[in-house]
Amino acid sequence: MKKCIITGSNSGIGKAAAQKLAEKGCTVVLACRNLAAAEKTRDEIIQSTGNQNVYAMRVDLSLIADVKNFVKEYTEKYGSLDILINNAADFDLSRKSPLITTENNEAQFATNHLAPFTLTNGLLPLLKKSDDGRIINIASQGLVLYPNIKFDFDNIKGQKNYSPAKTYYQTKLAQLMFSISLKEKLEKTNVSVYAVRVTNVKIDINRYPNLSPFMKSLYKMKSRFSISPEQMAKVYVDLAIGEKQMGFYYDEKLKEVRANKYAYDKDARDKLWQLSENLTK
Ligand SMILES: NC(=O)c1ccc[n+]([C@@H]2O[C@H](COP(=O)([O-])OP(=O)(O)OC[C@H]3O[C@@H](n4cnc5c(N)ncnc54)[C@H](OP(=O)(O)O)[C@@H]3O)[C@@H](O)[C@H]2O)c1
Repeated sequence: MKKCIITGSNSGIGKAAAQKLAEKGCTVVLACRNLAAAEKTRDEIIQSTGNQNVYAMRVDLSLIADVKNFVKEYTEKYGSLDILINNAADFDLSRKSPLITTENNEAQFATNHLAPFTLTNGLLPLLKKSDDGRIINIASQGLVLYPNIKFDFDNIKGQKNYSPAKTYYQTKLAQLMFSISLKEKLEKTNVSVYAVRVTNVKIDINRYPNLSPFMKSLYKMKSRFSISPEQMAKVYVDLAIGEKQMGFYYDEKLKEVRANKYAYDKDARDKLWQLSENLTK
């Protein structure tokens, strides 16, 4: 029975993936910042699948100390891990200025990049013990609209003309850069690293009450062309427990795609890794 952690699994794609993995008999740990929401999801999944091995754990991914605490608690409690899906993300487009955490990091960068970096590295000793460890990181199809995007090392706190959308894509680029470096580092191990290019997937607009009426109507229009979280989650599940794939980055049809050119830049990736290490010490 495979053990799996999915972050941000109380809603959307993460919840749909948790449901499917539980159906397939996996032990699933829902790693969420809102424990009550995670427990509600756990109960629903147990009831609908009959799989009793679904658990809720609390972690606020915007805080590195919390992530480290989660790693410690998980390791002590469960002692093994086969699959880590870094699904959660902060993409609240209603934010007008950077939200700086109590640890002095910009919240989107912390949640979407520094947390997966810390969580993955913290759980690597367990994943390496698995005979088929898998790490799945989540990027976005929206990055295709920015073919020349580069990681802005001078704007990690959103100090220059903050835009939540631009910051979001910076963090998704960082996820790809991190994933490529990680894949290289784990080449000679039993751990596979994949990234998913999530397409336009229906979101629950009620989860974002502070969006402007304009943004709400934009989301409403977008949702006419969206696929369901369940459809997207199928790719998470294929990469998590399906046959090992030889490639790295996959779209919603499980077709291999290229990441942005800059994501492969080794010097930039090494610089980002070093920065991430320094910020999460
Ligand atoms: N939907 C799309 O069209 C789309 C497109 C491209 C990429 N993606 C990516 O797909 C993934 C899943 O998105 P989704 O559409 O399923 O969105 P969603 O339903 O809004 O799910 C996001 C999840 O992340 C969690 N989260 C946010 N901040 C957190 C924090 N500080 N600590 C712990 N958990 C936190 C949320 O928890 P709360 O419930 O507590 O807020 C929620 O469970 C994300 O990585 C997103 O960037 C989505």
